Amino acid sequence: MSNIVSVVSQNEVAVITINNPPVNALSAEVRSGLLDALTQAQADKSIFAIVIQCEGRTFIAGADIKEFGQTPKLPHLPDVVLAIANSSVPIIAALHGSVLGGGFEIALACQYRVGLKGTTLGLPEVNLGLIPGAGGTQLLPRVLGLSKAMNMIITGKSIKLPDTADNALVHAVTDSDVLACALEFSHTFVKSSGGQKLNNKIVEQDDAEDIKQHALKNLVSKRKGQTAPLKALEAIMYTTQYSLEEGMKKSRKLFLECRDSPQSAAMRYAFFAEKKAQKPKLPSISAPLKNIEKVTVIGAGTMGAGIAMCLLASGLSVYLLEINAENLERGMSYIKNTLSSSVKKGRISEQQAFEQLARLTGTTEYSSIADSHLVIEAAFESMVVKQDIFAKLEATVSTECILASNTSYLDIDEIAYVVTHKSRVIGLHFFSPAHIMKLLEIVKTKHTDTNVISSCMAFAKTIKKQAALVGMCYGFVGNRMYASYGREANFLLLEGCSPEQIDKALVDFGMAMGPLAVNDMSGIDIGYKARKENPNLSVDPAYFLAANLLVDSGRLGQKTGSGFYAYDEKLNRTSDPIVMDIFKNAAQKLNIVPQSYTSEEISERLVLALINEGANILQESIAENAEVIDTIWLNGYGFPRYYGGPMFYAQQLGWKYVKEKLLALHQQTGKDWWKPSTYIDSLL
Ligand code: CAA
Repeated sequence: MSNIVSVVSQNEVAVITINNPPVNALSAEVRSGLLDALTQAQADKSIFAIVIQCEGRTFIAGADIKEFGQTPKLPHLPDVVLAIANSSVPIIAALHGSVLGGGFEIALACQYRVGLKGTTLGLPEVNLGLIPGAGGTQLLPRVLGLSKAMNMIITGKSIKLPDTADNALVHAVTDSDVLACALEFSHTFVKSSGGQKLNNKIVEQDDAEDIKQHALKNLVSKRKGQTAPLKALEAIMYTTQYSLEEGMKKSRKLFLECRDSPQSAAMRYAFFAEKKAQKPKLPSISAPLKNIEKVTVIGAGTMGAGIAMCLLASGLSVYLLEINAENLERGMSYIKNTLSSSVKKGRISEQQAFEQLARLTGTTEYSSIADSHLVIEAAFESMVVKQDIFAKLEATVSTECILASNTSYLDIDEIAYVVTHKSRVIGLHFFSPAHIMKLLEIVKTKHTDTNVISSCMAFAKTIKKQAALVGMCYGFVGNRMYASYGREANFLLLEGCSPEQIDKALVDFGMAMGPLAVNDMSGIDIGYKARKENPNLSVDPAYFLAANLLVDSGRLGQKTGSGFYAYDEKLNRTSDPIVMDIFKNAAQKLNIVPQSYTSEEISERLVLALINEGANILQESIAENAEVIDTIWLNGYGFPRYYGGPMFYAQQLGWKYVKEKLLALHQQTGKDWWKPSTYIDSLL
C-alpha cells in the first residue's frame, strides 16, 4: 500500500483516503494505491460499503497533467475507473473542493456520491485540448442525460453543488463534515438497500440526433479551430450505441489522439504558463502583504467604470473620482445600467447588484478618498494630466497607499516623478472591457518596492485577473508587441492587400478578430495620438501611414461610422473602396510596389513580427520568461490557446525556421525591425 493512499475500517465501512497534495491529482502512485486499497477493502468480509475521500483542500482535481507527454505508467486510469464501477461492494465518493476531470470520472464510477455544499464538479478537459479520458463521456450522459452532459463536457464548465441533493449527480449534501455525511449515508441508506448497480445500459433518447446537431451548432462552434470538442461530441454519442465498457474503450482511443496532438501540448503548456506568470521571481520579503479593501478609481470613462465594476464584483469598496459632477454622473449611470442588465440576463441576482452598488461611492473631492489602500488612476492618456493627479494623491492619501496608473504606454517612472515615495508607484494595466477581460499587466518601475509588487500580484488574484508582471518600456509587453503586429498590417495595406483580406487571414489563423476590425472598434485615433506624442517611434515614412491617413480624413473607426471599413447604424461592417484608393495613392508616392500575398503569408508575417518583438522583450528582460508573454497574448489579445501563445508557437515552428524567415524579411524589406533578435541566437 502506498503512503499516499490509505485504508481504514470504520464501523463496517472501509474508508479509503487519498493524500497527494496540493490537489490530489491522479499520479501513477495514486492510481495503483487506489487499486490496492480497493482490493484490500473488498477482501474484508466485515465491510458492507467503501468510502473514497481526500485529505486537504480538495477531492481529486484530475489526472496529473504533468504526466501527459511522458511515458505512460500503469495502471491506466480507465482500469481504475472500471474497477470502481464493477465493485461488488458499494462505493460512496465523499466530495469536497474541486472534483474535476479524472476526479469526477472516479466519482461518477462510484455507485453513490455525497458532497460538501459548494463543491465544484466538472470535466474541463477541453480546456487542455483533451476529452475526458477515463469514461467521463460514457458515464455522465448515463447520469444526467445527453443534453446536460454535452453541455458540461463541450463547454468544460463546472457546476457547484447546491444546498440539497436534487438530481442524480449527488445523493446527499452537507454543509459540515463530508466524511461523517458519507458514513451516515452508508448506514442509513446503503446498508438497508444493499446498494444499487451502476447504470451501464445504452442511452436511449429519441431526440439524440437533434441534441447532437444543437451541440454542434451552439457549443462546438464556439470553440473555433479546436479539435477536442468535436471528438468529445463523437465520444458522447457512443453512449447511444455501445455498452459502458465498449464505449470506454472507443472513447479512450479518441482521448489518446487528443493527448498526442499539438493542440493539447499547447493548451497544457498554457495551463502551466499562466501559473508560472503568477509566480514571478522576487526577492523574499518579511513584511506582510498590504491589505487592499478600499480602492479608488480615478476617471469614470469606459475604462475607469469597467475597473470599478470588476472591483465591486470581487467584494471591494470603491470610490469613483471624477473632475466634475457631469462626468461622474455619466460613469455612475453606466455602472448602474450595466449591473441592471446583468440582473436581467440572470448573471447576478438583484441582491448582488444592490450590494455592489452599496459599496460604490462617487465623488469629485480628493478629500473623500483619504482612507484608500490603493488608487488606480484611469484618466486621460496625458503625462501632464497624470502627473497632476499623482501630485494631488501625494497630498491626500497615506504614504502606505499604493498608487497605480492604468496607462497603456506612458512612462510610469515619469508619472512617479512628482511623488516623494516612489516605491509605492506601479502600473496596473487593465484591458477593455475591464470587468470582462482576464488580463492584468502589472508594470514595475525603477523604484517599485517588492512588497508593493507582491501585494498587487495577490490583489490580481482577489479580483480574479490573470496577472503578468512586466518591466517598463513603451507599450509594456502587450501593446509593444501589438504595435509590431499592427505595423505589418498597415504595410500590407500599402502593398495592396485589402482590410478584409488581412483580417480574414488572421481570423483563419485563429485570432478572435482581425487587427483592422479591432482598430476600428477601439478607435484609430488613439494610436494616432500616441504616435504624434512620440515622434521618435519610427522615422519610416510608411510607418502606420495607412491608419494616419484615415484619421486625417476623419475616419476614426466605428465611432465615426467609417474607418478601415464602413459601418451602418447597427455597426455592421462592409468594405469601402475609398480606403483602397487612399492607400494606393500613398503607396505610389512612396514607390511601394503592389504585391499579392496568400492568406498564410499574411498571417505568418504578422505573427513573425510578434515573435521577433517578443524575443527582443526577453533579450531586454522586460518579461521574465516566454510564459509571461504567452500569458499576456492568450488573456489580453485573443491569441489562439491551441497554439499556446506567440512564443510557444515559435518554438513549435522551430527557432531555426523563424530566424530564416526573419532574415528573408529583413533582406526583402531592408527594415531594421526584421533583424532577428539576438535572443533567438541564444536558443539555437
Ligand atoms: N495536475 C498536476 N498539477 C496540478 C493539477 C493537475 N491536474 N491541477 C493543479 N495542479 C497544480 C498547479 O499547477 C499548482 O502547482 P504549483 O503550486 O506548483 O504552481 C498547484 O497544483 C495548485 O493549483 P492552483 O494554483 O491552480 O490552485 P487553485 O486552488 O487556484 O485551483 C484547481 C485548484 C481548481 C484544481 C486548479 O488547479 C485546476 O483547475 N486544475 C486543473 C484541473 C483539470 O484541468 N483537471 C483535469 C485534468 S485532465 C484529466 O483529468 C484527463 C482525464 O480525463 C484523465
